[in-house]
Amino acid sequence: MTEFLLLGFSEVRELQVLHSMVFLGIYLAGLVGNLLVIILVVVDHHLHTPMYFFLMNLSILDLGSISVTVPKSMANSLLNTRSISYAGCVAQVFLFIFFIVVDFAFLTIMAYDRYVAICQPLHYETIMNRGACVQMAASAWISGIPISTMQAGNIFALPFCGGNKVDQFFCDIPQLLKITCNDAYLIFQQKGSLLIGVSVIVAAAGGRGYG
Ligand SMILES: *[C@@H]1O[C@H](CO)[C@@H](O)[C@H](O)[C@H]1NC(C)=O
Repeated sequence: MTEFLLLGFSEVRELQVLHSMVFLGIYLAGLVGNLLVIILVVVDHHLHTPMYFFLMNLSILDLGSISVTVPKSMANSLLNTRSISYAGCVAQVFLFIFFIVVDFAFLTIMAYDRYVAICQPLHYETIMNRGACVQMAASAWISGIPISTMQAGNIFALPFCGGNKVDQFFCDIPQLLKITCNDAYLIFQQKGSLLIGVSVIVAAAGGRGYG
């Protein structure tokens, strides 16, 4: 297998152009919104607190996750093609999982940040000091690598015997699993590793918090 086919929204040329324009609009809105958040946090000194630094990280993650999926779909519609190379699909799955995992890790950290601010306001400055924030942010980013490698590796280790049509506008995991040889054990393993991944993040964030 050298490529996958991403099923587009329509065969009609006008609708394909409309689709890419709508996606372009949505993509630009996401881009501008997140860039505004980043610029505001960098420029405004009142926003130099852990919460806004974490928000800035979240904006970068958002930019990443829309950039791995939406532009390819737009380009395919415009060029009237459906194909995505095998490597492109692997990259999409890997990066998409990476951004989502790190996103969840940051949401967990931000929840902890608010917990400390509300429940232990007098200790806030000492608990959420600069070192702790950087350490938590770094572990969030790093935790994405093993988890997304494991997930993407698990999916692409499966043989594809259901054709190469992916019924989605990007290489989406459930749709990819549908066209693999439907081996319940491997799918279970895939779900299992997701569960392990999520628990590791929660445990790590929790452990850091109480440590
Ligand atoms: C992410 O958050 C950390 C922790 O607050 C901060 O030090 C870092 O500058 C942020 N990184 C970016 C790129 O926003």
